[in-house]
Amino acid sequence: MCGIVGYVGKSEAMPIVLEALSRLEYRGYDSAGVAINNGRGIQVSRRVGKLKVLAEALRRKPLKGATGIGHTRWATHGEPTEFNAHPHSDCSGKLVLVHNGIIENYAELKERLINAGHRFRSKTDTEVVAHLVEEYAKRHPIEQAFRLALKDLRGSYALCLLSQDAPGKIFGARNGSPLLIGLGKGESLFGSDATAIMERTRKVLYLNDLEVVELTQQGAKVTTLSGKAVTRKPTTVNWNIASARKGGYPHYMLKEIHEQPDAVRQTIVGRLTADPLRLVFDKRTARFLKTLDPRTRFVILGCGTAYHAGLVGEYMLEEFAKLPVVVDLASEFRYRGPMLDKHTTVLAITQSGETADTLAGIRMAKAQGAKVLAICNVMGSSIAREADAVLYTHAGPEIAVASTKAYTCQVTTLALLTLFLAKARRGISPAQWRKLAEGLLQLPETLEKTLQQEAHIKTIAAKYMRVRDFYYLGRRYNYPSALEGALKLKEICPLIHAEGYAAGEMKHGPISLIRRGWPVMFVATDSPVYEKVLSNLEEVRARKGSCIVVASEGDQQARRHADHLITVPKTDEFLSPIVAAIPLQLFAYYMADANGCDIDQPPNLAKSVTVE
Ligand code: G6P
Repeated sequence: MCGIVGYVGKSEAMPIVLEALSRLEYRGYDSAGVAINNGRGIQVSRRVGKLKVLAEALRRKPLKGATGIGHTRWATHGEPTEFNAHPHSDCSGKLVLVHNGIIENYAELKERLINAGHRFRSKTDTEVVAHLVEEYAKRHPIEQAFRLALKDLRGSYALCLLSQDAPGKIFGARNGSPLLIGLGKGESLFGSDATAIMERTRKVLYLNDLEVVELTQQGAKVTTLSGKAVTRKPTTVNWNIASARKGGYPHYMLKEIHEQPDAVRQTIVGRLTADPLRLVFDKRTARFLKTLDPRTRFVILGCGTAYHAGLVGEYMLEEFAKLPVVVDLASEFRYRGPMLDKHTTVLAITQSGETADTLAGIRMAKAQGAKVLAICNVMGSSIAREADAVLYTHAGPEIAVASTKAYTCQVTTLALLTLFLAKARRGISPAQWRKLAEGLLQLPETLEKTLQQEAHIKTIAAKYMRVRDFYYLGRRYNYPSALEGALKLKEICPLIHAEGYAAGEMKHGPISLIRRGWPVMFVATDSPVYEKVLSNLEEVRARKGSCIVVASEGDQQARRHADHLITVPKTDEFLSPIVAAIPLQLFAYYMADANGCDIDQPPNLAKSVTVE
């Protein structure tokens, strides 16, 4: 996730582009850059770090011109360095562009372009687009060259392109990543969302996937990728800036819950492909995994939500990759005196890549000769830098303190890792592998469907809003779901005491508290232990407890047993924790909302815990 902007008009572009970027910094902030076209040439300025570093550089050395583009980055391919920061240029420097998204086939395009004599300066997927347009522009006018280049791209993109020879123009296109147009008086803008352009105009033209734009100060010429003219009326945006930044949602948490289908899609894209059905990892990670000692055991480390993702990973890796796995809270691991050696692989899971206990855990592991793999959301973070290999989640910046999309992307990444190792270690049959991989490819749509339960979940939360104790129960893959569901509720609704248990443990203690009306959230989706979960449910009902049940669509038995039923699409049990996370997140959200809690910044909690 990155933020991109463009401006073409009569005013100086640089301050307008910077102002628009400042509105998009929530989308990424590891580096930033602008490019300004003044007709004589395109000048580029880029800096590592937050936007203010770039703003300071531009204050000292301003760029002049009335056409400009800008970018604020959340690294996906290539570390957050100045070379990898956008905008990126072709060999001549006459074509300069910014990009948000992931070009899946960049490696093969890059090879093709290098063979054709192009020189690359960055490690990004984006730079290939600049060279590809340059290649086509040798034989075609720029508009057509841009269109031809787009046709070669696989993956997701929102792009803004400057051509030195077209000073009053910006070319834009989108496919799978957001881009819209702002139509002002004698000026036009591009932005990743409406906040970017709202200072200048409220007249917005939304773009659809595979549309191409030629933007001038007079307005926008929109066409389809094949060149057919598109006519669409602009809409007027009435939001205030603060709510627009949250995409119209009242809280970042709700926005991030809704971003999950896309975040999960970005995490899968470029790794698992449908046709042919194939799973590839970046070279470094693939080499790391292929050279693992066949007798290695995995020790998964994490804190909070990341630890819960690790617990799901334990089920996945043991069942399908046939690997011995233990999961540890990083804060315990580092003081436990664990037995580690070169046959141990430590898998650190972390959104921020900066959590103090997890970082100390991997340092200790490395010192004892263990190998370290990380699942991390922030490129260039301490853990990403210190690990031997990294599988990035592509969730984009997560702003709400309570983790939602980072969690589902962590579990998705664990599913990808499991499939990779299952194949390498021949842990499952090709047919079973195919079935799991196909389910994973379907996951974004499955999550979209799951989100349709939102209004129903809100109604249930309204019924329970005054309750002050909650149990969450599940088994196997959804035992971690129970822990995570309870954590979400107590994190954002600190008035409520919530506990998650393995349902089989209920008889060993928690059941003593069950009495009339005591609420229990069951995760009872399809699984080999489904009947056992239902038995636990009966035990709660026998004591007049109140059962909310998350079950698979079409489950009549759960309907008969539940006081309140939430259904989710059927999936393989392997993926069910990702699907089940959504109703649990929404339930916590609406409970907290009904109780007037500070949802995005709950008291006493921090997004990144960099102290012990
Ligand atoms: C804090 C956050 C949690 C997060 C945990 C681990 O407690 O509030 O949402 O799960 O840290 O953070 P990490 O960045 O390592 O995933």
